[in-house]
Amino acid sequence: MTGTIEARGVDVVFTSGIGGRVRKAALSDVSLSVGGAQPSITAVVGESGSGKTTLTRLLLGFQSATSGEVLYNGQPMNALSGSDLRTFRRDVQAIFQDPFEAFNPFYKVEHPLVTPLRTFGLARSRDEALHLVEQAMETVGLRPQETIGKYPHQLSGGQRQRIMIARSLALRPSVILADEPVSMVDASLRSTILEMLWKLNRDQGIALIYVTHDLTTAYQVAETILVLYGGQIMEIGAAEEVIHRPRHPYTRALIDAVPSPDPSVDWNLGDGTDIGDTHNLPDGGCPFAPRCASAHDRCRAERPPLFDTDPLRASACWLDETDAHTTGAEIQRRAAEARAAVAAE
Ligand SMILES: Nc1ncnc2c1ncn2[C@@H]1O[C@H](COP(=O)(O)OP(=O)(O)O)[C@@H](O)[C@H]1O
Ligand SMILES: [Mg+2]
Repeated sequence: MTGTIEARGVDVVFTSGIGGRVRKAALSDVSLSVGGAQPSITAVVGESGSGKTTLTRLLLGFQSATSGEVLYNGQPMNALSGSDLRTFRRDVQAIFQDPFEAFNPFYKVEHPLVTPLRTFGLARSRDEALHLVEQAMETVGLRPQETIGKYPHQLSGGQRQRIMIARSLALRPSVILADEPVSMVDASLRSTILEMLWKLNRDQGIALIYVTHDLTTAYQVAETILVLYGGQIMEIGAAEEVIHRPRHPYTRALIDAVPSPDPSVDWNLGDGTDIGDTHNLPDGGCPFAPRCASAHDRCRAERPPLFDTDPLRASACWLDETDAHTTGAEIQRRAAEARAAVAAE
């Protein structure tokens, strides 16, 4: 059974201050899906503060939607309980940016792998669990005999990140949500880990959301790229369309900009202006309008919906206005279908 998570028109608003008077929209009207009959890789690209981790947490059920809904296999996520909730917790796995945070320094590294296998009933004995752990370690290029029995500090950052991937794999999920999985490993390991994620999709049919601030790696692994800014989908489409024929002025700016390998550092436009100030966004209109060279009055007053501009892409820019609106999930579906058609030829 392949699980599907679907977000429909989700807003996430954080409030702070006395009486919750300070409101911050971390996500606005986001629709996308992951998993299902044609498991694919969708990259969510955006700078620091654009809402990527909020989106990951939403799909994991750690963050509730202020409005809109999130469904797992058609059931509202916040209503999952009992065996459905257990299935969800096993079927949907996460890989986070900092593998060190995920480890308890007092336990040997196999502990966080063995325990869930036992909890979810995937292994009847500790020996059986260890055997599955060894298999998962080999899949991610770790030698079990050199890994099992070590403490987290005895392994490199890259090895720890591989263990986190092995952990999610051991549970045989149908969906993996990877939030900046390679931003803390060095460049030589980055491509190895990305290739591994790509193979998990191709060989094991695992659907992936690959969250990154790096358009280059997004293009390398994903068939669909979703560009997020100020919590809104600016553009979404087949990777080829978005990278080679970008429509949205923000996507164009990103492609012209040189991204920094450090996710906490904002990108810079070619002219030196910072496009990463996602902390003081306008209340209405397009979030990118204050920095957009093409912005006009309407952009500052009215938020553009996702316009159905091309068969395999949509853009939320008034310059791309068409009669039809669409959603991220619909574009993902079309991109996955197009890929399946090419594969069948
Ligand atoms: N728990 C929270 N409370 C208040 N604001 C938050 C919280 N989590 C995230 N935010 C805000 O929401 C926006 C999006 O954050 P985040 O999803 O972490 O972005 P990213 O992962 O793209 O860097 C940011 O402005 C951030 O400050
Ligand atoms: Mg983040």
